[in-house]
Amino acid sequence: DGTTLDDLIMRDTNEVSLRVMTDEELYSHEMERIFAKTWLLLGHESEIPKSGDFIVRDMAEDNVIIARDRDGNVNVSLNVCPHRGMRVCLGEAGNKPIHQCIYHGWAFKPNGDFIGAPVEREKMHGNNVDKATLGLKKARVHLYGGLIFATWNIEGPSFDEYLGDIKYYMDQLFCRTDNGLELLGPPQRFVLPCNWKVPGEQSGSDGFHTLTLHRSLMEGGVMGGTAESIYDQAPGMYGVDVSCEQGHSLRCLEAEKTFKMFADVPFEGKSVEERLNLLTPPGITKEMIPQLFRNLSADQVEQLATIPPQVGGMFPNILIAFIFAPRTDGGSSGALALHTYVPRGPNQVEFVNFIFAEKDAPEQMKRDMLQNSIQQTGTSGTIEQDDADVWPVIMRNARGGVSKHMTLKYQALHGHERPEGWKGGGLLYPGFTKDDTQWNWWMAYHKLMSEV
Ligand code: FES
Repeated sequence: DGTTLDDLIMRDTNEVSLRVMTDEELYSHEMERIFAKTWLLLGHESEIPKSGDFIVRDMAEDNVIIARDRDGNVNVSLNVCPHRGMRVCLGEAGNKPIHQCIYHGWAFKPNGDFIGAPVEREKMHGNNVDKATLGLKKARVHLYGGLIFATWNIEGPSFDEYLGDIKYYMDQLFCRTDNGLELLGPPQRFVLPCNWKVPGEQSGSDGFHTLTLHRSLMEGGVMGGTAESIYDQAPGMYGVDVSCEQGHSLRCLEAEKTFKMFADVPFEGKSVEERLNLLTPPGITKEMIPQLFRNLSADQVEQLATIPPQVGGMFPNILIAFIFAPRTDGGSSGALALHTYVPRGPNQVEFVNFIFAEKDAPEQMKRDMLQNSIQQTGTSGTIEQDDADVWPVIMRNARGGVSKHMTLKYQALHGHERPEGWKGGGLLYPGFTKDDTQWNWWMAYHKLMSEV
């Protein structure tokens, strides 16, 4: 209708039109310019340990088969038969050495290569066509701490380039132990009636909403550690938000200011190792602490011990939640969860909740972490259900004849400011109740949507 991207995302006034949440044409462009181009999270390699193991997931609206081949490689192939467009794999997970389409029987290897068709002697796959051209379309795959990422942008930025400066901080969560993370069971999934960008922009480290929407965490005694802590203390901002031009971000918060269980722990004057022993970041036992020093730089370990990254997101549709939670023997077993917000048309999103523990953690700790994650960020959890109440209401407003012309305000901008002595790179914003990181999310969105 003549509306341009700059009419919807107003870079001069830091506003976004509510129409972005419902516009069908915009959604169609997002499928091609964002979801067909960026790296997307699909799962974890611990889900497919053996040759032939597969899972079926979605890269936005594109359904894919993620399968381990005989060489042990993880492959991601479009689950669309090149013959007539049927889904080749109709299951959700399993083990198959061959994937055969039910429509006319074309068969494919776990890596997507075409094997053959029934009545092949009669050349039912074509007289003149090289078999090598008849395979499933293959995505480019990267494993990061065992997490399976894929992109259709074969010649585009590498995964490290996609992460940019945030990698230094992400490594502290995903690449810190010898044997990495393990997914605890299949992901939980549910569909919400809202556009993917409603939760997507919140995953750009919206710390502000925690004070109000998740107030029950403070009232229930989980969060809110000291006098300067976050409950009713919005002006006393603490912590540091880290971000980058790719739109990713993480909220780094001192544990003793955030969680009651650490409020009286004597961290003052302690060495990095002593702090780690008192803190035990989520999922790390005292015995595992030497692994942190082996896998991370001294500066990264120091950050993990003092002001660890906890919550944030990867553009476009991943939320990261590494949350401390009390353990009966002291310390924190915590919760490690990743959510993806998978578009299901302009008006729906599938919320996929991946729950992790470190592979080397004791079984009891894994059980605790599964329970903590389900209780906090699960489909019936105490945190995410707050959000699930809000997002669909925003969507209803985005459809109103008058209200859809409202604009979302991202004008609480602090500006990039490097705290003294800060070791990591990226864009840094002291405090956590601002719009900077979420505005960076929108700028990453604008950049990709502007590229043809
Ligand atoms: Fe798959 Fe025909 S559509 S074999």
